[in-house]
Amino acid sequence: MKPLIAANWKLHKLPSEVAAWVTDLHGALETANTDRLELALCAPFTHLPALQTALVGSSVRSGAQDVSAHDTGAYTGEVSAAMLKDVGVHYVIVGHSERRDLHAEDDALVGAKVKAVLSSGLVPILCVGERLEQREAGQAEAVTLGQLRAALEGVTLTSAAELVVAYEPVWAIGTGKTATDSDAQALCGAIRGELRGLMPEIADEVRILYGGSMKGDNAAGLLAQPDINGGLIGSASLDAASLAKIAAAC
Ligand code: PGA
Repeated sequence: MKPLIAANWKLHKLPSEVAAWVTDLHGALETANTDRLELALCAPFTHLPALQTALVGSSVRSGAQDVSAHDTGAYTGEVSAAMLKDVGVHYVIVGHSERRDLHAEDDALVGAKVKAVLSSGLVPILCVGERLEQREAGQAEAVTLGQLRAALEGVTLTSAAELVVAYEPVWAIGTGKTATDSDAQALCGAIRGELRGLMPEIADEVRILYGGSMKGDNAAGLLAQPDINGGLIGSASLDAASLAKIAAAC
C-alpha cells in the first residue's frame, strides 16, 4: 500500500500564503520519490479554495480538519461534508484530540462525523489515542481501541481506500515527545488487529498513520514499522522543507 503523509496545519497560515507554500513544497519534493507515497495537506476551511487552485495538476490532495455531523440546516458556523466535497476536498480529519479536548467532542459525535464524511464520498482520517495518565495507568490500548470501535460502529466499508486511521498519543502531540518506534508499532498493530475483527476483508490495506511530534529526524524509524503506513504531521508540516524531509524518509 502507498504510505500517506498528511499535514495538519491547525490554526496556522493565511489563505493568501497557500499558493507560495505549495510552490515551495513542490520545489522541496523534487529529491524525494513522490511516486512511492501520497501527500495530503489538511488546512483550515478558509484556505481550501486557494489550496485546490494551487494543487491543480499536482498529485498532492487536500483535506479539511473538521466537519459538521449535519448535512444541512440551522447550524450556524458549521461546514458540511457535502460543502467540502463541492470544493474538491478528499480527506477530513475527524476526532483529533484537540477537538475532543477543547471542543468537547465525544465518541458519539466523532462517530456521527465519520458517517457524514463517508456518506459524502470523502475519506476520514480518524484520530484515536490515549492521554498521558491513561498510558501511565496501562490503559493506552483499551482507550485507543475503544475510540476506534465507537467511531466505526455501524460503519460498513467495501474498500480500504475509504478510511485512514491515525494513532496519535495525546501526550506526543505538539510536545516534542515522540512515542518510541516500538510503542507506536505496538498500538498501531493493536489497531490493525481490531480492524481485522471489524472489517476483515480490507483491514490489512487500511492505512494507519502515526501522529505526534513526527519530524524529519525521527520519521524513518517510525515509518519502517510494519503497521505504520504514514504520518499525520502538525508542527513539522508548517515548513515545506521539513515536510519534504519526512516524505523523503518514507
Ligand atoms: P504535531 O501534531 O506533529 O505538532 O505533534 C500532530 C497532530 O496534532 O496531528
